[in-house]
Amino acid sequence: MAAAWSPMMSGAAVPSSPPPVPLHEPRGEALPWAPRRRPRTGPAVVYGRRRDRAGGFTHVDETVTAVLGWKPRDFTDNPAFWESLLHPHDAPRVRAVLAALPERRRDVQEYRLRHADGTYRWVRDELLLTADSEAARSEIVGAWLDITEIKRAEQTARVLASTARSLLGTLDLERVARRIAQAVQLLLGAEAAAVYRLGPSGELVSLAVWGAAQRVLGGRVVVPAGAGVVGLAVREARVVTTPNLLADPRVTLPPELRERLERAPYRAALALPLTVGGRVIGALAVADRAGRQFDADEIYLARVFAAQAALALDRARIHEESEQRRREAELHAELVGSIVASLDLDTVLARVAAAARELTRSDMAAIVVREPGAGRFTLRHGQGLRGDYVGAARVPGWGLLARVLATGRPARTVDYGRDAELERPDLDLARAEGMVAGLAVPIRRTASVDGAVLVANRSARAFSERDESVLLRLAGHAAVALGNAELFAQERAARAAAEEVASRLEALSRRLVAIQELERRALARELHDEIGQALTALKINLQTLERRPLQRAVPPTARLADSIAIVGRLLQQVRDMSLSLRPAILDDLGLVAAVRWYVDTQARRAGFAARVVADAPDERYPPEVAITCFRVVQEAVTNAIRHARARELTVELARRGDELEVVVRDDGVGFDVGQALARAARGESLGLLGIEERVRLLRGRLEIVSAPGRGTEVRARVPLTPAPGARGERA
Ligand SMILES: Nc1ncnc2c1ncn2[C@@H]1O[C@H](COP(=O)(O)OP(=O)(O)OP(=O)(O)O)[C@@H](O)[C@H]1O
Ligand SMILES: [Mg+2]
Repeated sequence: MAAAWSPMMSGAAVPSSPPPVPLHEPRGEALPWAPRRRPRTGPAVVYGRRRDRAGGFTHVDETVTAVLGWKPRDFTDNPAFWESLLHPHDAPRVRAVLAALPERRRDVQEYRLRHADGTYRWVRDELLLTADSEAARSEIVGAWLDITEIKRAEQTARVLASTARSLLGTLDLERVARRIAQAVQLLLGAEAAAVYRLGPSGELVSLAVWGAAQRVLGGRVVVPAGAGVVGLAVREARVVTTPNLLADPRVTLPPELRERLERAPYRAALALPLTVGGRVIGALAVADRAGRQFDADEIYLARVFAAQAALALDRARIHEESEQRRREAELHAELVGSIVASLDLDTVLARVAAAARELTRSDMAAIVVREPGAGRFTLRHGQGLRGDYVGAARVPGWGLLARVLATGRPARTVDYGRDAELERPDLDLARAEGMVAGLAVPIRRTASVDGAVLVANRSARAFSERDESVLLRLAGHAAVALGNAELFAQERAARAAAEEVASRLEALSRRLVAIQELERRALARELHDEIGQALTALKINLQTLERRPLQRAVPPTARLADSIAIVGRLLQQVRDMSLSLRPAILDDLGLVAAVRWYVDTQARRAGFAARVVADAPDERYPPEVAITCFRVVQEAVTNAIRHARARELTVELARRGDELEVVVRDDGVGFDVGQALARAARGESLGLLGIEERVRLLRGRLEIVSAPGRGTEVRARVPLTPAPGARGERA
């Protein structure tokens, strides 16, 4: 007990009789409120002293040695000795009483005297001034009664009462814990005290650390399950005391904790489990200098506090849990609101991450999401992270995430550093982030895992089942947001595609009208210039023949031969015209024969070598495919004749799976395709653009490969099962 009571016993403001305050009695806990025994007073020390200014002692009982450790002679030999024992706080009050004694004649007062062992003892001093006619000879007779234990009991009752009152006044878990730690440390006069809460994995998480332990353990300690004196008390469900927690073989300490405790000014410890209705919910620990023994009374006192603490903590926990549920409901509602109000995925995901961190009270939170179309996952949101990984495609350091993405199931770890399944880079990153405990859950839509939500702590504070279910609900919101974002993107893409088709169709129809006009003009010119002229010549010949008997100048045979030649030319021209409008041969003999006939005729006229290679000469293709390919050949061959100055021309027709491929190749001068198309887009030519549009209309592709001096290759691929709505030429 040495030195134990000095801190609280100092100060003069000690009421002589504190009102008895009933303590909140724990129901169901076997803790009788009445102390084991009544506080006792020690034996009385009778003394006599002169009442002159020096106040020297004339007599002191032998019992003084038992009570204060001093000898009677210490007092009688040295007039200043008694004064030197007075507690400095009490001395002025005591002197005032002595000075007033002549008027009052008797008095009783309580104050502290220093024991030979250095501690202070409370004494009750009863003084009486003996009546003597000669004042100088009157004497003070007194008795000191040791009331230290009574004072202690009073003090205990007072602290207990005020603690109980203040515990009832607050629902703040950490404040409750701090008050308890503070009161226990004070009442047991120990170096330190701490209150822990039992975590989901059996670990003890400090709620309050008081006294010297604050310096050593810092703000928050997590003691692994079963470790330390507190772990032992929880495991054995009973009070544990040890004179030296570093040397006690029953006490296991993780190296890091041991290292910290080695710097502590305490070694002796007392630990108790905190129980409510037989269920352990935490632990209370008191620590003091090496060698301190906690006696039965002190242990009893600690148990009373532990019972108080357990109830108050449980009450605070229930309150906190209901608060948490309220907040949870609030956040879920907010999230649903933001999903409805915002189509922006990142807004929603940021809120999910923030809610995850708040509701699980984690140090950090992160969300990864599968990239659309790719198998990769990217970190979309981080909260409380030291590094910036947002947008990182490979997500290192999230070994837990990788596990969740692979299995589609929640995963937890109590210690990243000791998780054997983590890969090396993951481990490094987890270290850099200081991650210790972690929990991750999948973001699922129907069958696929589209991402994951992770929370982690920089301490061993583990995550509970409840955290997991909270996180799963949040992941549900994230999944809805992901689904919405995807639908929105699809809709946007569909709209853009529709707009593109519409504008392309518009341009095409404008171009078709232009082509039609051009063709009509060419037709009109040909009818007027060629056929009109020929018919005019024919008419003149016929008229001449009609007037023949009158004019004999021209022999009739020459006129007839000329007319027949004109009719022959006319026939050829009409045939050419009708062919260019719609080659009947295409319908009669099929694409390959039509192409052969066309290419041969053109090559013969232009005077260069032409070759047609076709792998299936008799095959019949859908009419719209046939006419489109014929037009491609027609335009490419015409271009080769008009622009290429080619010597050789090759046309290939081949079936490639579900497509028909047409290639027209010349060995002419070639051209800059990009420039030619740009000119065509400005309306300077129509040929190549026209065939490109036709091919595209059948969902085919046209490719032109050419460069100045290198010849030209025009390659078209047209699907044989055309898209619905695609129409062939009707002309
Ligand atoms: N086989 C080729 N060899 C060399 N140059 C070519 C060849 N094909 C096309 N070109 C170049 O590309 C340009 C565009 O061709 P396009 O068929 O679009 O127009 P055009 O033949 O000039 O006129 P039209 O509208 O009557 O077809 C041509 O003017 C020509 O310069
Ligand atoms: Mg052309």
